[in-house]
Amino acid sequence: MAFERVGVVGLGTMGAGIAEVFARAGLRVIGVEADAEALARGRGHLERSTGKAVDKGRLEPGQRDEILGRVTLTTSREDLRNVDLVVEAIPEILDYKIALFKDLDRICEPATVLATNSSSLSVTAIAAATGRPGQVVGMHFFNPAPVMKLVEVVGTVVSAPGVVADVAALAGRLGKTPVAVGDRAGFVVNRLLLPYLNQAAVLMELGVAGRDDIDAAMKLGVGLPMGPFTLLDLIGLDTAYEVMGVLFDETRDRRHAPAPLLRELVTAGLLGRKSGRGFYGDSPREEPAKSRLGTFGVVGGGGDGPAEGPQATGGGGLAERLRAAGFKESEDPDVVLRLADRPVIEHAVRLPDPARMVGVHLVGDQVAELASTVLTSEEAASAARDLVKIAGLTPVPCKDRAGFVVDALLFPYLNDAVRMHDSGYASIDDIDAAMRLGCGYPAGPFEMLESLGLAKVRDGLRALYAEYREPAFAPAPLLDQLVTAGVSRFPRP
Ligand SMILES: NC(=O)c1ccc[n+]([C@@H]2O[C@H](COP(=O)([O-])OP(=O)(O)OC[C@H]3O[C@@H](n4cnc5c(N)ncnc54)[C@H](O)[C@@H]3O)[C@@H](O)[C@H]2O)c1
Repeated sequence: MAFERVGVVGLGTMGAGIAEVFARAGLRVIGVEADAEALARGRGHLERSTGKAVDKGRLEPGQRDEILGRVTLTTSREDLRNVDLVVEAIPEILDYKIALFKDLDRICEPATVLATNSSSLSVTAIAAATGRPGQVVGMHFFNPAPVMKLVEVVGTVVSAPGVVADVAALAGRLGKTPVAVGDRAGFVVNRLLLPYLNQAAVLMELGVAGRDDIDAAMKLGVGLPMGPFTLLDLIGLDTAYEVMGVLFDETRDRRHAPAPLLRELVTAGLLGRKSGRGFYGDSPREEPAKSRLGTFGVVGGGGDGPAEGPQATGGGGLAERLRAAGFKESEDPDVVLRLADRPVIEHAVRLPDPARMVGVHLVGDQVAELASTVLTSEEAASAARDLVKIAGLTPVPCKDRAGFVVDALLFPYLNDAVRMHDSGYASIDDIDAAMRLGCGYPAGPFEMLESLGLAKVRDGLRALYAEYREPAFAPAPLLDQLVTAGVSRFPRP
């Protein structure tokens, strides 16, 4: 099927970018908004985005005029009468989408393909509301649409032969990489991504760590393009909240229940970038007061014995870095940095003065998670922060909870990917490609699992499960069995 004229309904965060992608590829686009005010906003998105591309030298001014010249903007759906394809990007609410598709079904030619950019809703339910269920698919772009390479093309049990392949071929023509998937809430990417973002909000609400520290941990420690709260603001908290609700309705998994904080922010109209304020946008954070730095000890890194005293080799080079910066080790240190291999409190209670102990977990070569126990003094916590900064690391202060921040967010996401693959929904390569191209992650979940080591992730999940008793944190049977069998890579066909 040749697609030359396309309609885009809803020109908000996603729709404006999708219209731009089509126009850049030479297609004629009719963009439809709800009213004149929203249409003006949509026009503004298009003009700003292409204007920025010119400023950055990625587009000639003449090319920008051609792109904008291919886009016709209107508030009348009736103008979609002669298009070959419609992609809708209106809010993530099933009733709105069904009403729209019924109307599009009336307006458009019978051969026109109707596609939803929904992140999570049932494409089957939307298709069934029309008189052309075989011609309805998901065409799920990622934010920002002109940049992200992935398009999930969602077929249903009633898709007509060839439609998914035709839409996937169109995505290829747009310069995107299509991944064809079946119709499950959240498809591949949002089923894996959103629970992780939601869990970050839960950790913040539980006071395990703060907004900026969680963001820094995931960005600098794991190498993600941005932290979870920055990403939630980019996605839009209303959209994220709706997607979580849809996931929960399908799975009844407690972890998929939207974090109460999300609901509160959405109700307050704090939606993220599109409203100017969400998790961010308030006053900048206050830097904690500087500590009075004294002597330190670095201990641990394995073993069950009591905290022995400073070990020159301990701390993954932390001790060396601190010595090089001119700090003194002591047998009676002001702060004891304990390389965390179990709950820090178990080590702290063996010290003559448990208030001085802070758990340290080095993540990559930039981040040190610093776990304070219920007994850690404010002075020791702030001295630990200052010490690791001087050692050239970014401190992430957190509570003494299994997995601290990074493992508590990363490992369940990896586990979810294993379960998704094991359920037969998507291949390892498709899941890895989807997370790299849809989220800009440096590696897909299976690549991350293999580079971290399967046993390490399995053991981390066991510790998380033991602490939180959350069924979904129990290692996926496939992961557990591979570790038991001594296999370090996932079998691929
Ligand atoms: N935000 C993301 O990161 C993201 C990523 C991929 C997919 N999506 C999906 O894209 C869809 C849109 O999300 P968004 O974030 O762009 O939302 P948004 O709120 O930024 O934009 C929605 C737009 O739809 C318009 N609209 C509402 N009702 C309309 C109607 N009846 N006719 C025409 N226009 C109408 C609104 O005026 C608004 O401009 C959702 O289904 C969402 O799940 C979002």
